[in-house]
This record gives sequence, structure tokens and C-alpha cells, in this order.
Amino acid sequence: SLSLVSHALLTAFVPSPSLPPMPGTPSLPTSASPPPSCSSNRLRAIKIPTVSFSPDELNTTAMGEFGDYIRKVFPAVFSAKFIQHEVIGEYSHLFTVQGSNLDLQPYMLLAHLDVVPASPERWVVHPFSAEELDGFIYGRGTVDNKNSAMGILQALEFLLRRNYRPQRSFYVGIGHDEEVSGHKGAIKMVDELEDRGVKLSFLLDEGSVILDGVVQGIKKPVALIGITEKGAMTVELSVEQDPGHSSVPPKETSIGILSAAVFKLEQNPMPNRFGYGPEIMTFEHLATEFSFPLNLIMTNLWLFSPIVSRILQKNPTTNAIVRTTTAVTMFHAGIKSNVIPPSAKATVNFRIHPSQTVEEVLEIVKNTIADERVKIELVDAFDPLPVSPWHDQALGVQIFRQTLLDVFPDVGSIAPGICIGNTDSRHYRNLTDAIYRFNPVIFKQDDMPRVHGLNERISVKGYEKQVEFLFQLIQNSDIEKLPEPHSDFHDL
Ligand SMILES: *[C@@H]1O[C@H](CO)[C@@H](O)[C@H](O)[C@H]1NC(C)=O
Ligand SMILES: *[C@@H]1O[C@H](CO)[C@@H](O)[C@H](O)[C@H]1NC(C)=O
Ligand SMILES: [Zn+2]
Repeated sequence: SLSLVSHALLTAFVPSPSLPPMPGTPSLPTSASPPPSCSSNRLRAIKIPTVSFSPDELNTTAMGEFGDYIRKVFPAVFSAKFIQHEVIGEYSHLFTVQGSNLDLQPYMLLAHLDVVPASPERWVVHPFSAEELDGFIYGRGTVDNKNSAMGILQALEFLLRRNYRPQRSFYVGIGHDEEVSGHKGAIKMVDELEDRGVKLSFLLDEGSVILDGVVQGIKKPVALIGITEKGAMTVELSVEQDPGHSSVPPKETSIGILSAAVFKLEQNPMPNRFGYGPEIMTFEHLATEFSFPLNLIMTNLWLFSPIVSRILQKNPTTNAIVRTTTAVTMFHAGIKSNVIPPSAKATVNFRIHPSQTVEEVLEIVKNTIADERVKIELVDAFDPLPVSPWHDQALGVQIFRQTLLDVFPDVGSIAPGICIGNTDSRHYRNLTDAIYRFNPVIFKQDDMPRVHGLNERISVKGYEKQVEFLFQLIQNSDIEKLPEPHSDFHDL
């Protein structure tokens, strides 16, 4: 196999002098340009603070610098005759890689270059320093999601330097405002592609990962590939009241009324929907991987699903998989210590389980609050995403499976999963029904909270693997049609 990239991150974030051998290519080009000598250039991708603070507040200076940077470090990508590069929405990047066989339907790889803010407190190194400690590169964006943005371009750069020309065309979309909705980047790229009549055979975005030692009772790493995302709904609750003096208060103030409504929502969680959505597929696919007695339980969910669903709801992470979650995120009320508050407002954010809709959840909210005095206003909402195909004839799934076998031989199983967060890919659903969310990085138990949290990091080895995965995926996608279905598909 390819031991791609000897100086992983060096190559990751600047071009590498040592190129991996490509199967079937007898002579390697020896004229690859050496890496820039300036070592402060190293890991520049992480050092550029491409922060999305809010939909209207992006560090566009940094985003512009990021664009300059990729032009500099991926010269082959930017000069190949069959690759068209366009800047969309000023800072997003759309690449069209024209394959040699136009009969094959194109696919698309997505990533985003923006990151959430990070303040240095409680980080082991500064979040925009990209310092290396014990084999890990620390920094905001190392797994969400500059690893994909740089990984895709790096893999393509390597392939081009080996004179590789894909047969199947593909697009690369690197958005610049994913963390704040994708309205300026992803949505504009989708508009562009829709205007051109593009239909995709499948699309791969960030999302789920390879879990190692995270799923209790399964020893070998599990590659989870997101086939849907939860929906979301934000409502504002408000109570208006005539102001007055606190010396002659009414029986209830707007604050009291609103607090009672919020309390009811927290005390009455949305129903546990385990078994009504695709989350059940995750367990069915993994059933035989569990050790005894979990394997017995998981292979007999028809009998044990009530028990499993009760266990899952005990932990906040797994609870988010089995139901629509309710989070009261803002509360504002009162103006003065001796004035009856004229109004009180609260914001509640719901993440909708794939088996429910915005409409249903809103109805439950109204019935739970059951108080005419509380005005309920929908601020913004979208339904859960459609479930992408997962079967032996799903092209994307088969290509991911093959690529995982090639690059991550230790992975014991591949299963479909639900993403509890959202990605840019949701904007692409008119272009394909086959949207998959998977980032080829290995996560252990303590890696989850690093995303958007403290000490986000990627191992040097992990980044090498990411590039290798993409390098292999692009080549594997040249397959014209799928092989005959495998009987051992489910156990890999
Ligand atoms: C925005 O990016 C620029 C250029 O990289 C940087 O110098 C500046 O400090 C950043 N601003 C904020 C508010 O992060
Ligand atoms: C998909 O296309 C329909 C019809 O043209 C349009 O109304 C809808 O907004 C599109 N959805 C997305 C996510 O772009
Ligand atoms: Zn992300």
C-alpha cells in the first residue's frame, strides 16, 4: 500500500518533495518542486484565522489569504488544463475536474475553510499556532475542516504530478461560511451547479468519522458514514405584559409565565423515537460486531429495542440520536428592579429526529406549553434531511467501502449513521439523493469534545491517512460499474 506522504503535515500544508508511488505508474516524476524553505510557512493553513463569527461577521481578510495560500501550494491543481477553478461568493472555491470519460456521472467532494472562534484560554497551545505536540498538530480547524479542504487538494496535487487524469469527472466545493449556515458559499455554489444542469452520482462531505473504542462492546474501529442529518428549529417564546410598579404586582409576571413555559419544555422531552428512523440501521449493521451479551441484544432488536432505547437516552450524546432534543439557549427579561417586566423572551433550539418534521415538533411545543399568553414564533427551521441510499448497488457506498479496505485495513465494520449536527451538504440535495457525510479520521473517546471545543487536533499520521484516503477514493471512483454484489458486504 502507499505510505503516502512521509512528512505528513509538512506535505499537508505545503507541497512535499517525496511523492507516493502510484500503482501502475512505472516511472515517478522526479521534478517535483521542493517545499518552500521558510519553515514559518509550515502549517500555514491552520494559522490563517478564517473565523466565521456570525453570518454577517466573517474574517474575510483571512479567507482571502487562504485563497492565496492554496494557489501557491497546489500549483498543479491550479494549472491543470482539465481543471476549472472558480471563486464563488468571493471566498468559496469551486473546482470542476473534467474526466476523460464523459459517460460517467460526476461526483462531488465538499469541505469548508471557515472555522468557529477559539480563544486561547485552556488550550495547550495557541489555537492558531498549529504547534505539534507528541505527534499531534493542535489548532482550530485541524479536524473541522481544513483537514478535508487541504486533504482533497493535496491528494489531487499528488495525482496530477503523476500525470493522472481521472475518467470520472468530479467537483470540489470548499465553502467559506459552513459554520454559520452556508448561505454565502455553499448555496451560491449549488445555484451555479443547478444552472449548469449538474446532477451528481454521489456527494461526500464531512460528518461522521471512524470511531475507535467509542462504541461500547465493539473492539475494532467502526467507520460510521452519515446518511442523514437531523433537522433544526429555533423558536422564540415571548410574553408581553403591561408594565407597572413592583409595589402592586400582578399574581404572575411575564418572567414567571415564561419560566413556567420553559420549565414544561425541559420537563417534557420530545418522545424517544428509537427504531422509527435510520438510527436503527446503525445497530443492525453493527449487531454481530458486539461482544456477548450485547450481540444477542442487538441482533434481536425486535425484542430488546425498548431496553436499548432507554439505555441510549441516559447519555447526552446517544440521547441526541434517539429523539428531537430541546435546548433553551437564550432568556431575556426585565428592565429595572422595581418595574414589572413588560416583556420576557426566550429562545429554544430543537434538533429534529429523522422520523419527525418541523410541523410535528412545533405542534408538540404548542401543546406542551398550552398557555395562550406565551407567543410562539418560528425563527428558522428545516426538516431532517432525506436518507441516502445504503445498499449493494449504491455507487458511493461501494467506493467508500473499497477505499476503507485499501487504506484502513484495521477498520472492522462500516455502518450508516445519523449526523446530529449539520453540514453544507444539506444545501446540495437537489443535485443528488446520495449524500454521505464522512471524514476519514480516527476518533477516540476523548476526541469528540475537541470539535468546536478545546484542543482540537489531528495526529500527523491521521492526516497522512486522510490524504491517502482521498488519493485512493479519487482513483477508485473511476470504476465504470459496480462489481456483482458481495454476500459478505455487511461483515466487510
Ligand atoms: C483576521 O485575519 C487577519 C489576517 O489573517 C488577522 O490578522 C486578524 O487578526 C484576524 N481578525 C480577527 C478579528 O480574528
Ligand atoms: C430544490 O429545488 C426546488 C424547486 O426548484 C426549490 O424550490 C428548492 O428550494 C430547492 N432546494 C434546495 C435545497 O436548494
Ligand atoms: Zn465542519
